[in-house]
Amino acid sequence: MTDETPEIRKGLVGVYADVSAVSKVMPETNSLTYGGYAVQDLCEEADFEQVAYLLWHGELPTAAQLAAFQAEERANRALSPALLRVIREFPANAHPMDAVRTAVSFMGMEDPEAADVSDAAQRRKAMRLLAKLPTAVAAANRLSKGLEPIAPDPSLPFSENFFHVVFGKVPAPEVIKSFDVSMILYAEHTFNASTFVARTVTSTGADIHGAIAAGIAALKGPLHGGANEAVMHMLKEIPGPNAADEWLRSRFDHKALVMGFGHRVYKTGDSRVPTMTKYAEKMAEVVGDRRWMETSRVLARVMLEAKNIHPNLDFPAGPAYYLMGFDIPLFTPIFVCSRITGWAAHVFEQGADNRLIRPLSHYVGPAQRSIVPINARG
Ligand code: COA
Repeated sequence: MTDETPEIRKGLVGVYADVSAVSKVMPETNSLTYGGYAVQDLCEEADFEQVAYLLWHGELPTAAQLAAFQAEERANRALSPALLRVIREFPANAHPMDAVRTAVSFMGMEDPEAADVSDAAQRRKAMRLLAKLPTAVAAANRLSKGLEPIAPDPSLPFSENFFHVVFGKVPAPEVIKSFDVSMILYAEHTFNASTFVARTVTSTGADIHGAIAAGIAALKGPLHGGANEAVMHMLKEIPGPNAADEWLRSRFDHKALVMGFGHRVYKTGDSRVPTMTKYAEKMAEVVGDRRWMETSRVLARVMLEAKNIHPNLDFPAGPAYYLMGFDIPLFTPIFVCSRITGWAAHVFEQGADNRLIRPLSHYVGPAQRSIVPINARG
């Protein structure tokens, strides 16, 4: 390193890139607030629709505001016949995150306000995305299994309708509550990779569909949203709770990452884990299958003892979704259906006080040199 080398924060670790009023992570107390409200309180006292409103407006809704928000969401759930045709043409083995990213791009092309990046138009488009994403995710999932898509039901609240479009039926209220809690916990998390990507795209003046498609591309990665699926694959690989200790220690020999553990910001525990674990345990009770949560408990204990690394939200969310009956490849698309709220809140915030996001790189390639004519290049 020469004296001229600027300080490089690889992975932007510890860098404050902007201010934000959407949410706050407090790693010193393992806590997270949306608009000043603790997430665990929102999970107990509100529902996902109210939280979506909070993220987009900075305040929890009044009953009248919530009714108007719900009416707009319910009225926008149907996909166009053209989009349904496109989804039918997706390869049966397409990755579900590629399917949802492509569906969002298509929604952008057919949106009547596609090119309008005014705050009012961005908000209307965000609502259409929130409403249509579950329909698209469920249609792609069902078609990949040879099943026909199910039309959304505008008489159902958001979470009930999600089960309706995936399974054609609405489960018991405890299951809906556990799902709704997961949607609240996944909704927003400051400047994570996908949110920062969405803000970067917005900073160029591009439209919200582009920003959200880019966010989905980032969320697909196993170091980010893809971890909830990886957790379930891992749990299925472990023969059972009694084998979990040895299985995990054998992973340490290979220096492999254990999915669902670790976090860039939280180093002593993820604020969302206790609440999600509580509702994953409830799911285990409802279904009458305790093996995944028992295995999880052993893994969490051994990781803490041996590595001092805590689980993140994906760790309890993976088995919770599995116990709800969702196919594993649907886990990260479900995360998309929630995180659209946080991404959009950041798109609005970035647009309201925009400056192009354009950092610097410190060049370490060859020094400037002359071009040797091609015939003379040995
Ligand atoms: N399993 C095993 N070791 C882990 C680990 C995990 N899940 N997460 C972190 N570590 C180790 C790292 O190998 C590193 O060890 P070292 O100092 O010996 O090299 C140390 O802990 C610090 O981790 P680091 O990679 O610097 O943390 P980061 O902030 O760059 O990365 C994650 C954070 C989330 C990317 C990382 O913890 C990870 O890959 N987790 C698994 C994927 C996952 O669950 N992602 C969802 C995030 S919400």
